[in-house]
Amino acid sequence: MNILQKKVISFDDIILVPQYSEITSRSEIDTSTKINYNKDKSFELKIPIISSPMSTVTEAHMCNAIRSLGGLGIIHRYNSIDFQTKLLSFVNNQDVKAAAVGVSGDYKERLSSLSDKGLSIVCIDVAHGDHILVRKAIEHIRSEHSDLFVIAGNVATAEGYKRLSAWGAHAVRASVGSGSICTTRLQTGHGIPTLSAVIECYKAKKDILDEGANPAYIIADGGIKNSGDIVKSIAAGADFVMLGSMLSGTKETPGKIILNNEGKKIKRYNGMASKVAQKNWKGSYSSIEGVSTYVHYKGTVSKVVNEIMSNVRSGMSYSGVTSLEELREASVAVMQTSSSNSEGNPHIFNRR
Ligand code: IMP
Repeated sequence: MNILQKKVISFDDIILVPQYSEITSRSEIDTSTKINYNKDKSFELKIPIISSPMSTVTEAHMCNAIRSLGGLGIIHRYNSIDFQTKLLSFVNNQDVKAAAVGVSGDYKERLSSLSDKGLSIVCIDVAHGDHILVRKAIEHIRSEHSDLFVIAGNVATAEGYKRLSAWGAHAVRASVGSGSICTTRLQTGHGIPTLSAVIECYKAKKDILDEGANPAYIIADGGIKNSGDIVKSIAAGADFVMLGSMLSGTKETPGKIILNNEGKKIKRYNGMASKVAQKNWKGSYSSIEGVSTYVHYKGTVSKVVNEIMSNVRSGMSYSGVTSLEELREASVAVMQTSSSNSEGNPHIFNRR
């Protein structure tokens, strides 16, 4: 084993340092990203939020709601081709119809069926994205469905990000084993925290830019638990964040609202490699790398996302920046101790 003498860091290991600011109103702050791809194609994300392709997070209702807020939703692939295609046909926005596919089995037929219904963004959704099957899938899509914007992943290293970029991915999901419902690190001993993965990918992105080539966008995916983590993700180099748990339990997620023993409203949130999700999808399970749970019902996704974005804008103002690009360039972070981290949480409740 080759042990690298470097440390990985997670969101709670750093804190952003407040900077001099001339921002007098949050309306000066722009959180949008204009995405140009395949020479003449483009779309815009007004907020840097993508809802995760998970069966208890994103189907058509979530896609429509998150798009109306300026973000992007990706319909999950844990269903039949017919059902996924039907879901896609309920997505209102012609410019950003996104679905996820895998890299084996029926994925080529799935792609063709979705393309016929106006698919514009495809997410190659596998846990270990730095893989020859992902290369083959990207190459297939770029040659047979050349209009599509291709998201691929997940990767944990600069080299992985560079490979996916070179294979033709337009955006890459960064991090392995960080999700709130994930047991990959426990089960396999592998993974890299989201913040470290994003930092690595961002260094690689700058190298690619220096070489005059087109780097992929970076999506911080997994383990993002509050709006502070979103600000830290972007400051570290991410273009967008992908959210599972933060959007789970909202009205627009698939699944019923149920009442728990205390009469509180709850909804399911399932890891896609959990026993429950696998059984729901294919009737059996193998290689479990996730858990499933219930989360409190949170109300509409617009309420949740508006609150998140208000905090993100506030975070940008603390860094004295008016755009996401400035946040990536100008923000400063320091390492923090565990006592500094606990001081950053409300601590009145711990006193007696
Ligand atoms: P969260 O936002 O921390 O809840 O993480 C969501 C992310 O976890 C997703 O976007 C996937 O990348 C990842 N994920 C989803 N299901 C599983 C699973 O069952 N095991 C491991 N990772 C998962």
